[in-house]
Amino acid sequence: MMSAMKKFQSFIAVVVAMLSMSCTAHANQSSANQQNENNMEKQGKFLVVFFSHAGENYSVGNIEVGNTKIVADYISEMTGADQFEIVADKDYDMPYMQLIEVAKQEANNGELPAMVGKLENVDQYDTVFIGGPVWWGTYPQVMFTFFRDYDLNGKTIIPFTTHEGSGLASCVDDVRKAYPDADVKPGFAIYGHEVRSGRNKVEEWLKGLGM
Ligand SMILES: Cc1cc2nc3c(=O)[nH]c(=O)nc-3n(C[C@H](O)[C@H](O)[C@H](O)COP(=O)(O)O)c2cc1C
Repeated sequence: MMSAMKKFQSFIAVVVAMLSMSCTAHANQSSANQQNENNMEKQGKFLVVFFSHAGENYSVGNIEVGNTKIVADYISEMTGADQFEIVADKDYDMPYMQLIEVAKQEANNGELPAMVGKLENVDQYDTVFIGGPVWWGTYPQVMFTFFRDYDLNGKTIIPFTTHEGSGLASCVDDVRKAYPDADVKPGFAIYGHEVRSGRNKVEEWLKGLGM
């Protein structure tokens, strides 16, 4: 049987360990907040604009949160960026092989599907991350609807993609064409099947950008 003193000592040890863990978590959170504030001071207010498709997808099966949204969430956590999710006013909830065909038609016909939702007050942002999956060699067509409707010329734009082999494909070129007077940075690509374990890659990329 453990003596009362031993039990008490164990109890104190557990309390001390918990307190120290909570202090560390608090310190990490404070330093993340401090980092976000420093970013804002240096580079103004950030926004992440993204499209992402949950459901059945290549290589990752049926996913509840799309690959690109996971990257967008990392960016917001690390930089304090606001988010705007581009959502098409049409149904993409279908098996992968079917979606491939629908997306191919859209791209071939240069369709610009309508969007739901509005981005308010885009003028408040100086730096805009733009991210999406590669669909047939570029961003999904509904992202081009966003490019048509929102003028980001004069801002800094940082493109990123998730993909399964095409990398950045023609996404950066297409953003440059959409916004010839923006400062469009080189861009970052990550495999869709890697994003869940790839937080550190996103972190390194952002560090490389001085964020
Ligand atoms: C319609 C469709 C077309 C795709 N075309 C390509 C492509 O051309 N090149 C590529 O590397 N991956 C392609 N993919 C794979 C996606 O880019 C990849 O799975 C991405 O991570 C999906 O991101 P999301 O979950 O945010 O939508 C395609 C996927 C779909 C659904």
